Amino acid sequence: MAIVELRHVGKRYPGSTSLAVEDFNLVTQDGEFVVLVGPSGCGKSTTMRMIAGLEDHTHGDILIDGVNVNGVEPKDRDIAMVFQSYALYPHMSVRENMGFSLKLKKFGKTDILERVEKVARILGIEKLLERKPRELSGGQRQRVALGRAIVRQPQVFLMDEPLSNLDAKLRVDMRAEIIKLHRTLGVTTFYVTHDQTEAMTMGQRVAVMRDGLVQQIDTPNNLYQRPANRFVAGFIGTPSMNFLEATLDGDRVVGENFSLVLDETGCAAARDHAQICVGIRPEHLHLSRRDDHSCRLTGTVEVIEPLGAFTLMQVRVGKTVMTAQIEPGRRVAMGDAVAVACSADKLYLFDTKDNLLLKGIDLQEDSDLPW
Ligand SMILES: Nc1ncnc2c1ncn2[C@@H]1O[C@H](COP(=O)(O)OP(=O)(O)OP(=O)(O)O)[C@@H](O)[C@H]1O
Ligand SMILES: [Mg+2]
Repeated sequence: MAIVELRHVGKRYPGSTSLAVEDFNLVTQDGEFVVLVGPSGCGKSTTMRMIAGLEDHTHGDILIDGVNVNGVEPKDRDIAMVFQSYALYPHMSVRENMGFSLKLKKFGKTDILERVEKVARILGIEKLLERKPRELSGGQRQRVALGRAIVRQPQVFLMDEPLSNLDAKLRVDMRAEIIKLHRTLGVTTFYVTHDQTEAMTMGQRVAVMRDGLVQQIDTPNNLYQRPANRFVAGFIGTPSMNFLEATLDGDRVVGENFSLVLDETGCAAARDHAQICVGIRPEHLHLSRRDDHSCRLTGTVEVIEPLGAFTLMQVRVGKTVMTAQIEPGRRVAMGDAVAVACSADKLYLFDTKDNLLLKGIDLQEDSDLPW
């Protein structure tokens, strides 16, 4: 286990005019699970490769347990990486694949045997040890790749999209396994994904990146309730947050086909902003009575997607198409004129100039559950 610290870390690839990663600052807790998430090309892999030492950083310092590792060889950093393309050696058995790095480090035969078998038991692959990679399913191969990293008992794990080759169901299963594994081993882990659901479910803290710049590093709940800016707000949550351009009119924000009443916090946050961007998550919209004029939007239903547990409905409100997540079985059809509403405490507000958050939301925590 270790504390990893990034101080103003940046990288410019030779010949490139822009920075692939810019001013990355983070101090992990000992044993923390940190997720890096963001769109393709935002610098996630570059950051991981700099921590591993596979890529030189051009700015800043990287420290592991307080020791500056700038210039320290990857093999001397005590870090194990698992990549998307886990490239097992095809001619070696699972046992040989898992023990290979220990063999290179001149571990004794009994030692290797013991470590490999222990890790195989943790991962539930002890019966597969004599098989070759081609005789395994995708999920089993991924477990071997994890096992190969775990036997080294590193101080830090770096996992770069390790599940992206797996089908959706297997991904969900493996996601849970990796979380359990992290709980068992307690090794400080950096995990890269561009899937925000994976980030939210796995990360103790999540760093949201865009164009080489960290937008926010926070707990999943804080990212959801208080996203630093419009980008984070739109990136975190599925389906994505709806955004509406509005003007302030007393205690309301109004726009084409909508008028939303602000609560006290909203009024205080919106003060001094003639123009404002309103954010509403699909799960906070509900069908409204047509005579309820408090906080609502009117429009026409364009698409209905029944998903069983809930129904997604796309409604055109003026120029904007909004997504609402409504109860299943509501009688609405494409082309219907509907009114949807959102309670004032669920409105997010953003500055239209710099897109920074002015007001987030508070989710009540269940403090009086019986257990
Ligand atoms: N070896 C390289 N030489 C030059 N530019 C590079 C190199 N590797 C990456 N880049 C550039 O650096 C930026 C960040 O790339 P990086 O691979 O870190 O992104 P990423 O967030 O991991 O993306 P993805 O989700 O697609 O894996 C991109 O603009 C990319 O084109
Ligand atoms: Mg990458």
